[in-house]
Amino acid sequence: MIEQPSPEVVSSRSAPLFGFWYPAVPSHTLLPGRMKGLQLLGLPIVLCRDRAGGLAAMRDICPHRGMPLSFGRFDGERVECSYHGWQFDMKGRCRCIPALPEQGTLQTDKIGVTTYPAEETDGMIWLYLPDERGHIDPLPPVPRMPLPSEPRQSFHISLTYTCTADDGIIGLIDPQRARQLTEQLLRGIRENRGKVAVMDITGVPSIDSAIANRLVQTVEAARLLGATVIVTGLSPEIAQTLVTIGVDLSKMNTVGDLQGGIELAERLLGYKVIPVEEVAPRTL
Ligand code: FES
Repeated sequence: MIEQPSPEVVSSRSAPLFGFWYPAVPSHTLLPGRMKGLQLLGLPIVLCRDRAGGLAAMRDICPHRGMPLSFGRFDGERVECSYHGWQFDMKGRCRCIPALPEQGTLQTDKIGVTTYPAEETDGMIWLYLPDERGHIDPLPPVPRMPLPSEPRQSFHISLTYTCTADDGIIGLIDPQRARQLTEQLLRGIRENRGKVAVMDITGVPSIDSAIANRLVQTVEAARLLGATVIVTGLSPEIAQTLVTIGVDLSKMNTVGDLQGGIELAERLLGYKVIPVEEVAPRTL
């Protein structure tokens, strides 16, 4: 007999998505005269804000011997590598090599670090990470985030979520998926004359305020159709978003997990849930 190898869990090796703008860090976390090292799509990047508030994003690898530039010093104009003291300006050009003799003819500004376009909007610092074509000219505009109507409020929730870019997109609810969710749910209620619907969002780590509003509108629309919606699997981050935009969670049927949601649905429909152990065995 040939034994089947046990199935292995293999992590996704899909390629990151280059050629797009990405929100890197909230603006307020990078003060003038400071720098910050970070990783985006696996790339080490050092983000600098000069004294006037201008931004620079460079590859966080010194072109001399590969030391992370973020380990060095930033005086508000130049980044100085901590290893041999090479200095780079906000355009990534080398402006000083301390070990060079004074009469040396080497043009240091011919040496440079890869830089990335950086812009600031909606309270976030965005970086454009080019694909193999390099920087395209003109760059596409930075995406605008949906903001609630007046009085305008802007907030962000950050969460470390270890995954590849496309795994992350699959696990999140974007506006298109939120619209589909609403349409499918309402269609299902109408076609099946549904009285109770269970909406399970287990595994969705966070949502923005526009998606949260869509969720609330879906529950309200279902109520108008005569159905009760039970939302299950709310993460603490999503609950926090709903509270932040002013949703009264006591008016929403929320249950911790899907099984609890189905049990509540059965109770609302008048079914009695009997644990299997309590069902008397049938005699033949
Ligand atoms: S490694 Fe940066 S100056 Fe030498």
